[in-house]
Amino acid sequence: LPTNQQMDVVAMDWAQLRQAVTSCTACPLSQTRKQTVFGTGDKAASWLFIGEGPGAREDALGEPFVGQAGKLLDNMLQAIGLKRDQDVYIANIVKCRPPGNRNPQPLEAEQCRPYLLRQIALVQPRLIVALGKVAAENLLATGASLASLRGQLHDFSGIPLIVTYHPAYLLRTLTDKARAWEDLCFARSTMQSLLAS
Ligand code: URA
Repeated sequence: LPTNQQMDVVAMDWAQLRQAVTSCTACPLSQTRKQTVFGTGDKAASWLFIGEGPGAREDALGEPFVGQAGKLLDNMLQAIGLKRDQDVYIANIVKCRPPGNRNPQPLEAEQCRPYLLRQIALVQPRLIVALGKVAAENLLATGASLASLRGQLHDFSGIPLIVTYHPAYLLRTLTDKARAWEDLCFARSTMQSLLAS
């Protein structure tokens, strides 16, 4: 981040944060993006879903998860009684599309991290759901396989975190859909306990 932004991200309100993301040139992804993809949903949601980064359609529209994977995510949300505008906030590890949908590089994720951390601090979710390997890797600072990370409750700075498959992966790997459903049920029952406690 440029130094003038670096000092302030932790103190930004939503409007300032959105503006900082929109004008960010901290990493090379800023040179190839059409536009930034900030995040969407209920700013006071109990649920925070975190993906990897914008794809082509997100880059064109400026909204997360609006392509094919997004449709599946909406269905996954619906399956546990959630609506994207009401009950959840949706964000990504990186706010700019990696060219050709490659994975974000560690430095790109690192440069973008203050924005995500500020989104988390502002939303104050009860539960974070990391969608896919890249999100899990970045949030939990682990190289462990997704298979070994799912099915348990992790901790992200005091916030419970659950890992599941990325919807784009599920579109290619139908055999893991049943496992994703288990993860969603686990997330739903975890939320029920959190809200009851
Ligand atoms: N995949 C992601 O990880 N995020 C999006 O916003 C869209 C597709």
